[in-house]
Amino acid sequence: MNAKYDIYAPADPTLAPGDARCPGPSVQDVLNADNQRVSPDFQAPRYTYLGNEDLAFDRYTSEAFHQLEVERLWCRTWQWACREEHIPKVGDYYVYDIDRYSVLVIRGEDMRIRAFVNSCPHRGMQFFDSDTQGTGKQFLRCPFHGMSWRLDGALREIPCRWDFPHVKDEEFGLQAIPCDTWGGFVFINLDANAQPLLEYLSPLPEHFAATPLEDRFVTMHTQKVLQGNWKMCMEGFLEAYHVLATHPNRLHMSAWANTQYDLLSPHVSRFHQPLTSGNAIHPRQITERQLYAELGHDPNELKEGESARNAHCDKLRRSLGESLDVDLSQVPNAIMLDSIEYHVFPNACFFPGITIPLIYRFRPLGHDKTLHDIMLLQPVPRSGHRPKPPAPVKLGMDDRYTSVKDFGFLDRVLDQDSDNFVRQWAGMRTSLKKGQTLANYQEARIRHFHATLDDYLKTA
Ligand code: FES
Ligand SMILES: [Fe+2]
Repeated sequence: MNAKYDIYAPADPTLAPGDARCPGPSVQDVLNADNQRVSPDFQAPRYTYLGNEDLAFDRYTSEAFHQLEVERLWCRTWQWACREEHIPKVGDYYVYDIDRYSVLVIRGEDMRIRAFVNSCPHRGMQFFDSDTQGTGKQFLRCPFHGMSWRLDGALREIPCRWDFPHVKDEEFGLQAIPCDTWGGFVFINLDANAQPLLEYLSPLPEHFAATPLEDRFVTMHTQKVLQGNWKMCMEGFLEAYHVLATHPNRLHMSAWANTQYDLLSPHVSRFHQPLTSGNAIHPRQITERQLYAELGHDPNELKEGESARNAHCDKLRRSLGESLDVDLSQVPNAIMLDSIEYHVFPNACFFPGITIPLIYRFRPLGHDKTLHDIMLLQPVPRSGHRPKPPAPVKLGMDDRYTSVKDFGFLDRVLDQDSDNFVRQWAGMRTSLKKGQTLANYQEARIRHFHATLDDYLKTA
């Protein structure tokens, strides 16, 4: 049977820009038919048309633009450095690097986590190498001349103290910077006057109240080098419009063009792509029974009038709950099944989902390469046992996610996404057209991100 919708039909000239949507069931329709629903406030659409001007390619390709971001963006925004479970004990530390900045996150004797600039107050030596972690420090001793500091940053001792009569202890502590936690993540901000973390993240904490990420643990962590500017790579993960051409494998199952995009605050946006609900615009239409079979069940078990999504989700709550040893009985269908991605400015994405439990972080390696962290999070089991987080699997530009053992079903999808960046980066640099032309709705999060970026960049 052919789908009754034509995605290539011209845009409706009677609609105001940004008002058009893909035909077929909306995310709201899907969620309203769920037998266990997310809250109305969680699911409410929040989109505003932000204009349709081209977005200049030199925002990505210019080294000067990258330098402006170093001066005005990376030193003023909250970024997650590590998980709390990376540094569970007194004296455990983690080094977070972002371009030329290096931050040392360490747990003190009072169990408080603090962040310091990873630079010795004496002559600037780094205490620890970039992107390393360690455990059990009783104090921090600089490897150059051996000055040392307590875990709370106070000066401990200076060798040959007789030669430093001009140093006042209280003025010679480590350079502390704002540090706070949310969802089990340790966030840092290099701006001493940063707004409080929870205010910056709003409304993320309310939206994740029912799916606390602090009650999850890391099962997988990869760090892959990608070709291209960090924004270009990140934006490949902010829309589902590319699913049609980039991930063509199971288009009849995924309502990619009906994904909902929400602009929640200057720092937070979201997409919600319903999975397991079929795809009303695909030429291959399937019945609920066929959908149920595609979801791995006996189609004859689906009762007349029952939705495959609901029946599948009920089974999954039980089977996955048993295998993970967690109670999933109250988890809404959308959280169980869908791809729901929250972007937090500038460089992080958090998914509340159970079957799509991703965390992303994108960091610039110069203006033309990106370091992409991916973590998978799983709910902590009833036993309360929280395994030690695995060390990141480091992947070079040519390494494939399919080569990573135990990555799960997302590996091929991530390879498809990563492969795009090589060509997109080359194409951006050779383009005679000066900028990219964005979809009004499906690529709204990219425009929204750049509007916030401009707000940061315009202030010296
Ligand atoms: S640079 Fe650190 S003790 Fe000299
Ligand atoms: Fe993708």
